[in-house]
Amino acid sequence: MVKHRLYAFLGLFFPVLFIQQWLPMREYNSPAPPKTIEERIDSVMKLMTLEEKIGQMTLFTSDWDVTGPTMRANYKEDIKKGKVGAIFNAHTAAYNRELQRVAVEETRLGIPLIFGYDVIHGYKTIFPISLGEAASWDLEAVEKAARVAAIEASAAGLHWTFAPMVDISRDPRWGRISEGAGEDVFLGNAMARARVRGFQGDDLKATNTLVACAKHYAAYGAAQAGRDYHTVDISERTLRETYLPPFKAALDEGVGTFMTSFNELFGVPASGSELLIDQILKTEWNFNGFIVTDYTSINEMVDHGVVADEKEAGELAANAGVDMDMQGAVFYNYLAQSVKEKKVSKQQIDEAVRRVLRIKFQLGLFDDPYRYSDVSRQEAALLAPEHLEAARDVARKSMVLLKNDRQTLPLSKELKSIAVIGPLATSQADLLGSWHAAGFAEDCVSLLSGLKDAVSSNTSVMYAKGCDVIGGDQSGFAPALTIASQADVIIAAVGEGWDMSGEAASRSNIDLPGHQKALIKALSGLGKPLVLVLMNGRPLALPEVHQQADAMLETWYAGTMGGPAIADVLFGDYNPSGRLPVTFPRNVGQVPIHYNMKNTGRPMDPNDKYTSKYLDVENTPLYPFGYGLSYTQFEYSDPTVNKSTFGPTETVSVEVNVKNTGQYEGKETVQLYIRDLVGSVTRPVKELKGFQQIVLTPGQSRSVRFDLTVEDLKFYNRDMEWTYEPGEFDIFIGPHSAVTNAVRVKLLKK
Ligand code: GLC
Repeated sequence: MVKHRLYAFLGLFFPVLFIQQWLPMREYNSPAPPKTIEERIDSVMKLMTLEEKIGQMTLFTSDWDVTGPTMRANYKEDIKKGKVGAIFNAHTAAYNRELQRVAVEETRLGIPLIFGYDVIHGYKTIFPISLGEAASWDLEAVEKAARVAAIEASAAGLHWTFAPMVDISRDPRWGRISEGAGEDVFLGNAMARARVRGFQGDDLKATNTLVACAKHYAAYGAAQAGRDYHTVDISERTLRETYLPPFKAALDEGVGTFMTSFNELFGVPASGSELLIDQILKTEWNFNGFIVTDYTSINEMVDHGVVADEKEAGELAANAGVDMDMQGAVFYNYLAQSVKEKKVSKQQIDEAVRRVLRIKFQLGLFDDPYRYSDVSRQEAALLAPEHLEAARDVARKSMVLLKNDRQTLPLSKELKSIAVIGPLATSQADLLGSWHAAGFAEDCVSLLSGLKDAVSSNTSVMYAKGCDVIGGDQSGFAPALTIASQADVIIAAVGEGWDMSGEAASRSNIDLPGHQKALIKALSGLGKPLVLVLMNGRPLALPEVHQQADAMLETWYAGTMGGPAIADVLFGDYNPSGRLPVTFPRNVGQVPIHYNMKNTGRPMDPNDKYTSKYLDVENTPLYPFGYGLSYTQFEYSDPTVNKSTFGPTETVSVEVNVKNTGQYEGKETVQLYIRDLVGSVTRPVKELKGFQQIVLTPGQSRSVRFDLTVEDLKFYNRDMEWTYEPGEFDIFIGPHSAVTNAVRVKLLKK
């Protein structure tokens, strides 16, 4: 505040300085009786010049991390000139405190910066990738992961995370399927809400919360051919039924910001889409936070071919309702001129700035700009033991047991010898997955280390790489086969490298890359129990290794504590409870494939040539949505209902009895699906409408009940009205989406 005193002193001799410099800073920072946030925003805005307002609509990356195609050298100069109001990719308490000092002490109005970062699945303590967290179907666990991420990130000077990514994705070729919650709307909605709760807590002013960002708005996951940044061409029905709901769920949970996506929709890039931003988000949904674009996505509207130059792109974005330009410097370079030419109104600018300042006030940044930059809190928070334990717990819960013939798993810790094979068994970096923020590989515990720490001193654990993840040759097979032939059990860690999914990481082939398939085939020829540990960021096509392995555990990228968590599951210290949030196809030719497809007019009939099927592969996936095994077994009764007909104001209760008929205590995710048999438009063959997780000891059984109302049965009818239609519905309750036993109910007109 030294500057304020200097201006006060100088103002005595040069009144203009008092008016221009000192008064503004005192005005909105005055310790006058607390005003509402809207009044405080007014008090700032009336002092701001147009250039300062455009500065609040500008977000630049620091040079501490690279998350896109362009960098800026002089962002510190921009801060000093008041020409940027937000910085991303800058973190740690000390560094952000210094940048904040420049903004608060060295600019005319001292408006604090907001610091953003991609804290997707952890800041320093890294949790499983988001697709893995979703596989837990455990909303408390997912919220906890976001909570810990917020505690660590907010201790490191950050205010804003570019998460949750809520894009529905049904195409495993798309690398960013790894960042979301999979293929289903109901599960995606629940995950979006849990993550917003975790990040934002119940008070954005608290120094252990972050304002969240629902991204990428919208339908980015529908990129044609799974190729990142590719064209999206879907119907309004598909947009509203499939891709928008998780964004609305995030908004209903109070998410403070949205990020527009790179893709076009209905021929207009999302960052220039008045339909998406002004009509749906700001008007229909009454969103009052702010909307930031994705990285230079305004500039990219020139390449999209909807504007002639960047200035026009800025006008299209601003008039569509974009409030902040990420890294494009388009508002920075051209918006003042556009306003002077009356191509963008001052009201539009003020609306955007108001939204940005509102979040900054809600974060408490005007009360204490340095509140999130406390070095001592940072040291206490990062990698705290309770955070590492939480990461291990969420990782265990994220793992999906795909196969377990002859109860190969769990393994005994007293085994005489274990051969650990594969390029991912010793990797620490790959456990982090994509978007691992400030997570360091050296902080990760590898699978090999986790296994060695878990077994008894009598167990010999041998290791050979066998081959690389991708490329390389088969010269490592021989030593791998040698140790494998000497062992009681073979554990092979295979999959993809961490950077083979995430942004700009689409694959046209979703097989195990490199020589890994050949390695598994060779190992399977030894006749030893063969356990596959999969590390991957997308569904892979695994039909061959599914045949060759005795057991298969999907671990995604399990994070900082991945090794111990995998060991916990392999040795039975945790009975795997994960269920797939996304379908695993038999091959990429089946894509897109998801459980809730339409029946078509010629549903598959193996005995009828002229029905919807392939000549060379079944229609069914290798593993369906919702699938996952346990070390125990669960038996379901047929579902029953308390009434077989019900009116639109009534509730129908559907019950099922679940019994643990195995030898282990286990957690079961009981899933409820509906099928609308006849609608004014075609309806999916199944839709997830509920799930409950129960823990049963061996022999224990429990009744599980779901209460359905007409709200669970609504959809967009032929006239695109969100409504219900009377008629018959099949209700399924079971362990995955391929469940067949159903009970039929009838919804009456009234
Ligand atoms: C990237 C990503 C987006 C991320 C942003 C900032 O291009 O698309 O998810 O939040 O840039 O790093």
